[in-house]
Amino acid sequence: MTPEDVVVRNLLNEQDSPFELAEDARRGLTSTPKAMPPKYLYDALGSRLFDRITRLPEYYQTRTERGILERVAPLIVDRIRPTVLIEFGSGSAYKTRVLLGEMRRAGRLEGYGMLDVSEAASRAAAAELIRDYPGLHIECVVTDFEHDQPLPYAGHRRLLAFLGSTVGNFDAGAARDFLRDVGTRMQPEDAFLIGFDMVKDVDTLLRAYDDAEGVTAAFNRNLLTVMNRELDANFDLDAFEHAVRYDEREARIEMHLVSREAQTVRLGALDLEVSFAAGESIRTELSHKYTRRSVEALFEDAGLALDMWETDPESQFALGLARRR
Ligand code: SAH
Ligand code: TRP
Repeated sequence: MTPEDVVVRNLLNEQDSPFELAEDARRGLTSTPKAMPPKYLYDALGSRLFDRITRLPEYYQTRTERGILERVAPLIVDRIRPTVLIEFGSGSAYKTRVLLGEMRRAGRLEGYGMLDVSEAASRAAAAELIRDYPGLHIECVVTDFEHDQPLPYAGHRRLLAFLGSTVGNFDAGAARDFLRDVGTRMQPEDAFLIGFDMVKDVDTLLRAYDDAEGVTAAFNRNLLTVMNRELDANFDLDAFEHAVRYDEREARIEMHLVSREAQTVRLGALDLEVSFAAGESIRTELSHKYTRRSVEALFEDAGLALDMWETDPESQFALGLARRR
């Protein structure tokens, strides 16, 4: 990797971590019901576990979205003519290659900006990309994408991407605010490609978040390991059960860690004791499911216009291309 081709900027310290996990844990574990922000699931181990999730037979989302991308990437690149791709929550950037490959074929690929909270995952992905796309310039920004920050590569024609239905992990108001904030940072020629997991039969959804091998359960419990390490806590991983629920009214999956028994956990760094009743849970993740109508309403509220809408033949997953209104 030639250093001038990959620029890594870690903004997390400026955004006042490491105190942020401490504050979020204090707030989240002392409120009723208990909940934690999902971004702490993605330390180095968590990012590797998520990568395994994307290859599970039950997790149809990744392969379905990739299939749509393969079909529509030429259409999008032809329509937007981007020279730069900017991706929120880029992770391993596995599917991103479909877009980068198409931009390169069109002879227009100059830069790739990746924004992710996981420095380990970003560095690993950047190293592989630079090997496979010689000459590509990569700007790797380690950040919480909910913090308002200028988007890299101002002045270039940019395609923004937010894949994997990660937008569904925000609560409804936060999704609208995030999309609106990104919209205000878009140049008039930029476009924003967003992946949405669609409403479907509940069993298929539940299985995608509770796989037979237990990878998702391990990913979920890793949050406790992160707090044990970073906050000097004494969570017993075996005392919490991975549980998945579907809320029909909100059209969302909820992931929980349920306390198997009444217990008290100590977080040394916070000088805090947290008690759990038997069956009480920490909500660790939301994953909203969409219809074309709900996406149109979301875009409307966020000041964006739906420019292209593409699904797989079974309408399991969708890609929406947004422009500024
Ligand atoms: N885009 C990939 C990964 C999705 S998983 C895919 O479609 O498969 C979600 C990704 O977003 C992870 O890489 C995680 O590290 C990152 N992430 C989650 N919350 C974040 C936040 N608040 N700020 C920045 N990145 C975040
Ligand atoms: N964006 C992914 C989704 O909503 C994230 C995800 C998949 C996830 N499986 C998970 C998050 C398990 C937490 C736990 O599908």
